Amino acid sequence: MTTHRLDRVSPVWRRSATIIADHGEGVYLYDTDGRRYMDFTSGIGVTNTGHAHPRVVQAIQDQAAKILHAQVNIVYHEPLLQLTEELSRIMPAESLDTFFFSNSGAEAVEGAVKLAKAATGKTNIIVFQGSFHGRTHATMAMTTSKTIYRGGYQPLIPGIFVAPFPNAYAYGWDEDQAIDFAIRELKRLLVMQTAPHETAAMVIEPVLGEGGYVPAPDRFLRELRQICDENDILLIADEVQSGFGRAGKWFAIEHSGVTPDIVIMAKGLASGMPLSGIAANHALMEKWTPGSHGGTYGGNAVACAASVATIQVLRDEGLIENSARLGELLMDELRRIQADHPEIGDVRGRGLMVATEFTTPDSQPWSERAKAVAGACLDQGLMLLTCGPYGQVIRWIPPLVVTEEQLREAIGIFEKALA
Ligand SMILES: Cc1ncc(COP(=O)(O)O)c(C=O)c1O
Repeated sequence: MTTHRLDRVSPVWRRSATIIADHGEGVYLYDTDGRRYMDFTSGIGVTNTGHAHPRVVQAIQDQAAKILHAQVNIVYHEPLLQLTEELSRIMPAESLDTFFFSNSGAEAVEGAVKLAKAATGKTNIIVFQGSFHGRTHATMAMTTSKTIYRGGYQPLIPGIFVAPFPNAYAYGWDEDQAIDFAIRELKRLLVMQTAPHETAAMVIEPVLGEGGYVPAPDRFLRELRQICDENDILLIADEVQSGFGRAGKWFAIEHSGVTPDIVIMAKGLASGMPLSGIAANHALMEKWTPGSHGGTYGGNAVACAASVATIQVLRDEGLIENSARLGELLMDELRRIQADHPEIGDVRGRGLMVATEFTTPDSQPWSERAKAVAGACLDQGLMLLTCGPYGQVIRWIPPLVVTEEQLREAIGIFEKALA
């Protein structure tokens, strides 16, 4: 390996480590020198079934031997149809019964926004402060988790309006205060900037991801649903990072009992094969002019086969339950550690989507500390990512196949790194 080889890779890809991955198995990732890491990044919330789950690998191999590319504008294929069946069983509501597939999270967000515009005949979209929806041109305009994602590219597409997210810890308020403020400001936005008759949809991450791993409170989501209903606005849940068991349920929005009009999926959907999708009611999908949206690769046969196997593994191995149970254990342990480490200002999360937020003694975001702790963990073979606008949050996203023993080992490494 020479520096020259790495130089041929575009530096636009920021990287949290200089490891060259060779192979993975379960929670472990091995580099080309044979060093083993506990991968608690899950490739940014993708490998929920662990690296190279045998059933997912087998499904990919079997499908690859049959047909790689059965283009969906030309033919149907069996994995696509199987996937729609599997998905319809796990959606937050029976009404979410029709599916469209593409390749990346951002592409699925684009699709959801286009569907909302097409179905309502309205132009504007409301997003929430701190959200991350992707890095294409439209999704950049919807992303407010950090200026780096839009800096140098502005002005962006018009028609996107940003409402506050009820981030109680960031505001220094209690949850009810944060919810009341966010709802009040949202209502004012509909009066002052984008009227209901021009607002097609609101897009919300049920757990803010890149923005700092902040669960949207249930009451907030319920009130959003009500405001959308009263104003004929669609509610879209971006479950790209929080879906497929990550937050202790198939979809994070289930915690609130709210049924969105559109669900956006990617990441955990296919264990690492590039696949994303959106779900909506058939009547809504029928309002989308055939041919006005699509793509060459969306609904790829191998990716769909991987996704079918992924859903079956998540179900058969009880991984949603594992996420819920171990998520509680993780938060309990982190709160225990927090008692001796006041720089951990907040521990929060849902399922195995957990944040430890670092705060200076004078209550400022402490990104250097978060980065140093994550670096010290990496030196000890534990891969963790940061997030949040300042990079002040260490996020815990282990594969959902993680065992209690492995989780406790990782917590031990984290505790030593803090010291
Ligand atoms: C909530 C959310 N939406 C959308 C995206 C964009 O997905 P992709 O990077 O696959 O385009 C991400 C990626 O992190 C995400 O977390």
